[in-house]
Amino acid sequence: MVDCVDRVLVSRETIQEAVTRLGKQISADYQEKQLVMIGVLKGGFVFLADLVRSVSIPVQMDFIAVSSYGASTKSSGVVQLIKDVDMSLVGKHILLVEDIIDTGLTLSYLKDLFQARNPLSVKVCSIFDKPSRRKIPFAAEYTGIELPDEYVVGYGLDYNGYLRNLPDLCVLKRERYAQE
Ligand code: PRP
Repeated sequence: MVDCVDRVLVSRETIQEAVTRLGKQISADYQEKQLVMIGVLKGGFVFLADLVRSVSIPVQMDFIAVSSYGASTKSSGVVQLIKDVDMSLVGKHILLVEDIIDTGLTLSYLKDLFQARNPLSVKVCSIFDKPSRRKIPFAAEYTGIELPDEYVVGYGLDYNGYLRNLPDLCVLKRERYAQE
């Protein structure tokens, strides 16, 4: 195990079970609909890659990039749109695909942003959720696994840009972020 990681919190097998369940649910809910799954970079890329392969209906994909945390482990509360989608969303159903919902600020901002573009619908799918950390009320339509309030890395989630490639969701060693 990487030395700055304390322990595995959610194994790759448990994550895959959640991905498979969400993929089936999404395939059933969006049958005969024009669905665009929008990955929220950077953290959402691992989950999007797995989720699209668990979906059995035709689907388009695009990406946006936002940042609310920067290099710090704590939320600045400021959401920045760094990269927008390339395609028109008129007449489409939008599913925003995220790695984690924490304070709720990022997804609340993004949902409002995409709703203002008049697609047929805007929903959110997040593989991880920390409901105890909300600063504003926010509930995703599709949620994989609820987490306790621990600093987690892996499966797309980073510490200073590193550790996104860990296949399991792991808890960062406390001494790594206690000073921040
Ligand atoms: C993380 C995560 C979400 C957001 C959730 O992104 O990917 O986008 O924070 O937090 P919130 O509910 O408190 O808004 P981050 O800003 O760390 O960027 P990254 O995906 O590039 O790592």
